[in-house]
Amino acid sequence: MLSINKLSKTFRKKQVLDSITFTVNPGEIIGLVGENGAGKSTMLHILATLSKPDSGTLTLQKMSYDKDKKHIRKQIGFVPQDIALWDEFTVKENMLFFERLSWTHKNEDELQQLCFNMKLDKWNQPVKTLSGGMKRKLNLAISLIHDPSLLLLDEPTVGIDLKSRKEIGAYLSEQAKRNDKMIIYTSHDMDEIENLCDTIYCIGKDPFYFDVLKKAGNNPILL
Ligand SMILES: Nc1ncnc2c1ncn2[C@@H]1O[C@H](COP(=O)(O)OP(=O)(O)O)[C@@H](O)[C@H]1O
Ligand SMILES: [Mg+2]
Repeated sequence: MLSINKLSKTFRKKQVLDSITFTVNPGEIIGLVGENGAGKSTMLHILATLSKPDSGTLTLQKMSYDKDKKHIRKQIGFVPQDIALWDEFTVKENMLFFERLSWTHKNEDELQQLCFNMKLDKWNQPVKTLSGGMKRKLNLAISLIHDPSLLLLDEPTVGIDLKSRKEIGAYLSEQAKRNDKMIIYTSHDMDEIENLCDTIYCIGKDPFYFDVLKKAGNNPILL
């Protein structure tokens, strides 16, 4: 379980996160929505241990973010908003490279299987020849190499084709339901959020997303 308790963050007097509290259970997919600048990426960065909150406590499977950062990192897969891949290298070479940086050992067949599972079949093609959707899938596959229990995804489906979006959605569902992973992801696609998420949290000052989701018969929670 991930517990977020009274988390706050301010940048130069601008309060971005204001005493945020919620929990995530294994198997749950959480959607985080809000206008640009609402603080979604800030929140994911903090959960990924890449940035520190000003106050509040965070625990993942009873480990404290303050005391057990090293162990916590091994449990986290993070896909940032900007794709970070080796463009000149093939899918296979990228997977092998990131496997070496990871804490676990996976052989080539296992790495290839990870890609196949999300319908990424361009194993020997250079990344620069892939579509945006394929690159996203590769990013996601890389984040799963060490089998994390918490997956943090910052707008994983923005700007990619519908087919890849659907395939990524189906894959995330499967990861949560079958492998008991906790998934927190951000998106501006309300259909996708409604279809995929068990719980939807709205952050930021603008009530737009909250109102839209409410009108569509959902039960969003304001943070
Ligand atoms: N490192 C930083 N330094 C200063 N301000 C920041 C920093 N990171 C984010 N911000 C500010 O915090 C606010 C929230 O940003 P962000 O979390 O990226 O929002 P979102 O992902 O919801 O669009 C924005 O006003 C942004 O300018
Ligand atoms: Mg963002």
